[in-house]
Amino acid sequence: MPGILLGDVFPNFEADTTTGRIKFHDFLGDSWGILFSHPADFTPVCTTELSRAAKLADEFKKRGVKMIALSIDSVEDHKNWSKDVMAYGNEAGTPLPFPIIADDKRELSVQLGMLDPDERNKAGLPLTARCVFVIGPDKKLKLSILYPATTGRNFVEILRVIDSLQLTAQKKVATPVDWKPGEKVMVIPSLPDSEATALFPNGVTTKELPSGKKYLRYTQI
Ligand code: BEZ
Repeated sequence: MPGILLGDVFPNFEADTTTGRIKFHDFLGDSWGILFSHPADFTPVCTTELSRAAKLADEFKKRGVKMIALSIDSVEDHKNWSKDVMAYGNEAGTPLPFPIIADDKRELSVQLGMLDPDERNKAGLPLTARCVFVIGPDKKLKLSILYPATTGRNFVEILRVIDSLQLTAQKKVATPVDWKPGEKVMVIPSLPDSEATALFPNGVTTKELPSGKKYLRYTQI
């Protein structure tokens, strides 16, 4: 079964991109990475998404995350489409700040389980879904999100998720619903109270619940 699961080492594939041939692990180096796929070049939703990703490129850079997109067309198409994308975002003449992988043979899309069976091109071939893979500096998959081709993603939410991934990779905490950086986080359930008190100098507060179980433990990082 093609596809990749959380914790798997992300495949070290080779591919042609708009900035040349890459070997994925070398491209990532010691950084975090985000690979996001698109159904096809010169399509409306994809153009809006790529434009938003380009506008947020500095935010990804600030977090040490290398960006790379993928679509099932050629390098030449990608280069031409990039000009449309930047013009759509009122930045005509500025290069797209990240490469796009050419997967015109759909090999990578099959390997990574990214095809959307419900959306097909004029030749009847399936298009790529909107996948998001976040890869850690250890080259392991930390997050995957899979949207159908017909639903555009929210890249601000993806940044929020990366903030959570990077925080929870360092500290024994988890981020609650709708969390944003700076807000209280939750102590992970496996950490005993005695260790939590020692680990979190800002203190740990517990919310009382009808069950009497003290599992909702908050702290401020
Ligand atoms: C789009 O990017 O607009 C799109 C691509 C494939 C199916 C539906 C929408």
